[in-house]
Amino acid sequence: MLQQLEKLSAFIGNTPLISLRNTNTPLWAKLEYNNFSGSSKDRAGYSIIYNGIKAGHINEDTTIIASSSGNLAIAVASICKMLDLKFIPVIDPNINSAYEALLNILSYKVVKITERDHTGGYLLTRIDTVNRLHTTIENSFIADQYGDPNNYKGYYGLTKEILACPEPIDYVFVAVSSSGAITGISSSIKAERPDIKIVGVDVEGSVIFNAPPVKRYISGIGASQVPPIIENALIDDVVILSQTDIVKGCLELLNEQVIFAGASSGAVYLAAKNYFRQQSFPKPPNSLLVFPDKGHSYLDTIYNPEWAAQLAHKLQSATVA
Ligand SMILES: Cc1ncc(COP(=O)(O)O)c(C=O)c1O
Repeated sequence: MLQQLEKLSAFIGNTPLISLRNTNTPLWAKLEYNNFSGSSKDRAGYSIIYNGIKAGHINEDTTIIASSSGNLAIAVASICKMLDLKFIPVIDPNINSAYEALLNILSYKVVKITERDHTGGYLLTRIDTVNRLHTTIENSFIADQYGDPNNYKGYYGLTKEILACPEPIDYVFVAVSSSGAITGISSSIKAERPDIKIVGVDVEGSVIFNAPPVKRYISGIGASQVPPIIENALIDDVVILSQTDIVKGCLELLNEQVIFAGASSGAVYLAAKNYFRQQSFPKPPNSLLVFPDKGHSYLDTIYNPEWAAQLAHKLQSATVA
């Protein structure tokens, strides 16, 4: 299985690095959506499964289980399909319909929970369900992006690619969710270049960096639990964006750079553009922005003007109430 998986590694990483145009300070973008299954989560999924096999926790008959409705589920489902491993993603009603359709094709079985937990969300019910499946299915393995250090270790290769940028990088902007990307990049980059500043980008309503509490309507960025692996991260600064600013960032990225990308990419783009606005430098700093996924799965939300108008309204009424 490991040999088969190693063949897949040719399609993960070494993603394009491009220089963005007409920006006040030089911005470079790492187009992580060019990975095998369409997002940077391929690095995490590959590392979790590869090391699970290597450690003897996964064999040909293992069932892999994951609590994810997003890119991690798609990455692990794709890898498991390649390896003929059974995969059970535990999803909830917030899943986007394209992802649900894809998971239904790629997975052994999809478990969709519908019961909310005592916080009003689905996270705790999803985690309970994953744990129950793990205890009832013999020879099963949880692909745990929040707690497995192999998630962040999967991003060490991305650090090497960042350090190979034609211009020496001064800042890296990374959107945060399970914190795998920022933990892997920051811990390995600082070992070689402690002067490079790491800026985490998060969304209002996410608990990772104590952002203001509001209901979150945008997927991909943020989390409703503090990921245990983040304690290994070395973060210099954090930018928290409102959800309406993230929509704005995505539209600016599309209009100014002709890049059709997901919420996290729009968020880091807006954050990086604003970050240096009030500052003057003898030499403008070089920043690298990680763009994790494409915009297709956000067509019904961020790129739908009606949805965006409703978002502003929903957030306003929530604040007034
Ligand atoms: C849409 C999106 N945002 C953010 C990230 C970074 O997430 P994490 O903190 O879970 O590594 C990813 C990783 O692939 C992603 O797909």
